[in-house]
Amino acid sequence: MILSATTVGIDGKAVKVEADTQGGLPNFMVVGLPDAAVQEARERVRSAIKGAGFEFPRGKITVNLAPADLKKAGPGFDLPIAVALLVQTDQLAGELCQNIYFIGELGLDGSLRAVKGTLSLAKVAKEVGADYCVVPNANGAEAALVEGLKIIAPKSLQELIAHLTKVKVLDPVSGSAPKRVNYEALDFSYIRGQAQAKRAMEIAAAGGHNVLLIGPPGSGKTMLARSLPSILPELSYEEALEVTTIHSVGGILPADAPLQLTRPFRSPHHTTSTVALVGGGSIPKPGEVSLAHCGVLYLDELPEFPRQALEALRQPLEDGIVTVSRAAQTVKFPAVFTLVASQNPCPCGFRGDLKRSCICSPANLIRYERKISGPLLDRIDLHIQVARQDFKTLRIDGEKAETSQNIRRRVLRARKIQQKRFKKEKISANAQMHPKLVTKHCQLEDSSQALLQQAVDQMHLSARGYIRVLKVARTIADLDQSEKILLKHVAEALQYRNQPEFN
Ligand SMILES: Nc1ncnc2c1ncn2[C@@H]1O[C@H](COP(=O)(O)OP(=O)(O)OP(=O)(O)O)[C@@H](O)[C@H]1O
Ligand SMILES: [Mg+2]
Ligand SMILES: [Zn+2]
Repeated sequence: MILSATTVGIDGKAVKVEADTQGGLPNFMVVGLPDAAVQEARERVRSAIKGAGFEFPRGKITVNLAPADLKKAGPGFDLPIAVALLVQTDQLAGELCQNIYFIGELGLDGSLRAVKGTLSLAKVAKEVGADYCVVPNANGAEAALVEGLKIIAPKSLQELIAHLTKVKVLDPVSGSAPKRVNYEALDFSYIRGQAQAKRAMEIAAAGGHNVLLIGPPGSGKTMLARSLPSILPELSYEEALEVTTIHSVGGILPADAPLQLTRPFRSPHHTTSTVALVGGGSIPKPGEVSLAHCGVLYLDELPEFPRQALEALRQPLEDGIVTVSRAAQTVKFPAVFTLVASQNPCPCGFRGDLKRSCICSPANLIRYERKISGPLLDRIDLHIQVARQDFKTLRIDGEKAETSQNIRRRVLRARKIQQKRFKKEKISANAQMHPKLVTKHCQLEDSSQALLQQAVDQMHLSARGYIRVLKVARTIADLDQSEKILLKHVAEALQYRNQPEFN
């Protein structure tokens, strides 16, 4: 029996591989709920065993993957199946393979290829106290992130056999200090003008608020969104491991960066399917919202997304988690992210522009606004108008704008205050406050109360709008290092109120 593992959601689960050979007509069967990729393993294993210079057993071969009720996905079983067959046919001594975990896809010549989710799989080996874990060479650094687990990372089946039989012993992969990949995000200093929008992005970063950027084409909405990760706090080691695990299962972990230290920035196109956006599938895979975990999900041209996809965002936005239910199992994927959405103010793009006039019909305008549901907008705390900048502001020889590094310093200070505030809660930022916490932490003085009262009356601010203003005001006060929410904080928060028709 050979030990291996499969992923369920982002968790690894132990799997035992047993092989049996009998005489009779040639037949190769894999049983125990394997998916198509595991079935294809038969051809790869057959060629790889021959390619590595061993003999492929004749007759009837049965490979059993246990436990039977666990759905097993992916090509990672190639290696344990091949090893099990070599042991079964006495080409390799079984004692040499005991208490070792095997994961890897085989090429036809016996070479070992990278598989998804190695980090989750290696964690299983650690949990059950395996002597060591064998993974494809390309996954070695990733698996070595599991502390206290010995990793052997051969390039091929041949290398592995030479190692097991002590003909040529391989050195374990050393857990090298993870490389910090530079932020790919744009720097705020490249964006000229847009003082109000930048300030709003700073508030978003400081309090974890979701943002909607509304402005005409070419005004810099995409630039602002792409710059947001550059002012977010760095990932903690635990967060980095979690992000890496999700990206590995999702198959998007870059080969040269085994540990994801940068905050994810995901920008799915509006034609992306709902499943790709929120996760799912017959063998559940993480969606864009989970790949954006701990980072930013950017939805450009928000009204172009199908309504169904936007509706599906509501659960993750509320709970920070995606639940995918299948007959066989229920899988949960983490999905705590900051949503940045952008859109034009109207189909033609010039509504509210001072220099050009909007040519959209009233009916068109209403249809455009209806595309995005109230409940989704309700989860977006900051609605920001991004105006077109004039030439004087845009001149590249003009005054230099503030760098992301500077802005980030203020963000970190505000985050620290929140860490203290929510020490005993399960949340980390103001945006996640539930009503009870809002009551506790967002008390206003009389003058501020009066201003807000006036706004509720004049702007027809709804109850949800009111709570939203309070949360944003809390973050603005934190940026100001003020324990109390003052009149000026409320006044600024009111500026990020959307148009009345969106309420
Ligand atoms: N404030 C700005 N400072 C410097 N460059 C800018 C600014 N605004 C826009 N640009 C330039 O214009 C280009 C387009 O900006 P961006 O893609 O962010 O616009 P957008 O608002 O997303 O437009 P669209 O609605 O068409 O998607 C940028 O690549 C940048 O070169
Ligand atoms: Mg854009
Ligand atoms: Zn228009």
